[in-house]
Amino acid sequence: MTAQQFIPKPYTGSVENGSFTWSSPSNIALVKYWGKKENQIPENPSISFTLNDCKTTTKLSFSKKESKANFSFEVFLDEEKKDDFKPKIETFFKRIEAYLPFLKQYHFKIETSNTFPHSSGIASSASGMSALALCLMSVEKELVESVSDKLFIQKASFLARLGSGSACRSLEGDLVVWGKHDAIDGSSDLFGVKYPFEVHENFKNYQDTILLVDKGEKQVSSTVGHNLMHGHPFAQERFKQANKNLTDIISILKSGDLDRFIALVESEALTLHAMMMTSMPYFILMKPNTLEIINKIWAFRHNTGSKICFTLDAGANVHVLYPEIESEQVLEFIKSELVVYCQKGHYISDRIGFGAKLL
Ligand code: DP6
Repeated sequence: MTAQQFIPKPYTGSVENGSFTWSSPSNIALVKYWGKKENQIPENPSISFTLNDCKTTTKLSFSKKESKANFSFEVFLDEEKKDDFKPKIETFFKRIEAYLPFLKQYHFKIETSNTFPHSSGIASSASGMSALALCLMSVEKELVESVSDKLFIQKASFLARLGSGSACRSLEGDLVVWGKHDAIDGSSDLFGVKYPFEVHENFKNYQDTILLVDKGEKQVSSTVGHNLMHGHPFAQERFKQANKNLTDIISILKSGDLDRFIALVESEALTLHAMMMTSMPYFILMKPNTLEIINKIWAFRHNTGSKICFTLDAGANVHVLYPEIESEQVLEFIKSELVVYCQKGHYISDRIGFGAKLL
C-alpha cells in the first residue's frame, strides 16, 4: 500500500447531515515507537496490547455547509466546549484533507469523553484520534459506493496515525503491529495491522494495572520527544534493537515464555527512558515514586516467583502487567505495597481488549 491509495475516487453518494459515535481504546506498547520521520512515519516498528477499559467515546455530528473555504468544527469534552483542543484537530484535518476530500463541505460537532480522568496523565491521543478517525470514516462510507471492512479499518488506522502515531494501534485487538518488519507480512509504516501469529494462552486476558504516579501535564510533549531522536547519538542502535525485539517477541508470544517476555518488555521501557536521558536537551521523566514501584515489583518477583512486570510510557506512570491467573495475588500486592506511591492513591485496573466499537 502507498499513501496515494487512500485517496478516494470521486464520491458518488451524498448526505446532508447525520452523526456517528465510536468508542476506541488506549493501547500500551511492548516494543516502543520513539522517533519518527516526516509524515508520521515511524523510525522502527512497534507492537502494543490494546486496552479494554481506558477508552474515548466520540460522537461526530455533521451537517452540510455553504462555503467550502475552511474547516468548520467545534469540540466538546464532557459536554464542555474545548477551544484549546481546536489547534490539534485543525492540524489533523490539514494532514488528512487529501484523503478525506469532504472535510471542508461539512460543519462538525465533535463531542468526546474519556473513561479515564482527563488529568490522569494517561495520554488520550491514541484513543481520541482513533475514535475521531473512525467517525470520519463512517461519514466517508456514506459517500462511496462500497468499502470493504478491511479497507475501512486500514484507512481509519492510516488517518489515526496522522493524528497521533500510536493511535493507529488502537482500532483492533488484542495485539497490533505498526511499522514495516520483515518477519510480519502485511506490516506497514502507514497503518497498524492485527498481529498475525499464534499467541500462547498465557497472554489471554493479560492484565494492566496503571499506577498514576504523576497526573500532571506531560513534561515533554510526544512531538518534542520524537524530535529528540533526530541526531541522537544512540538513535540508529536503538532502531536496530527495536527491530530485533520485534523479531524476538514473535517466538515469546508463541511459546508463552514469560521470563523472556518480562526481560524484553522491561528493557524496552527503560530504553525509552534512557533515550530521553541521553538526548540533548535531556529529560528524566520518571519520578522518585516510579523507581520505588519498579524496585518493589522486582523484589516481589524475586520473593514470590510471580511473572509481574512493568512498562512505561513517556511519563512517570507505571503500567503493571501480569497474567490473569495471578490477578488476585498481584492486586493484593498492588493495594498493600504500591498504591502508597500513587498520587492520591489512584490507579486504574485494565486488561487486554479487542479494539474500537461503533455505538
Ligand atoms: C512513548 O503516538 O503520542 O507512547 O505520533 O507524536 O502523536 P505522536 O506520538 P505518540 O507517541 C507515543 C510514544 C510512546 C510509545 C508507544 O506508544 O509506542
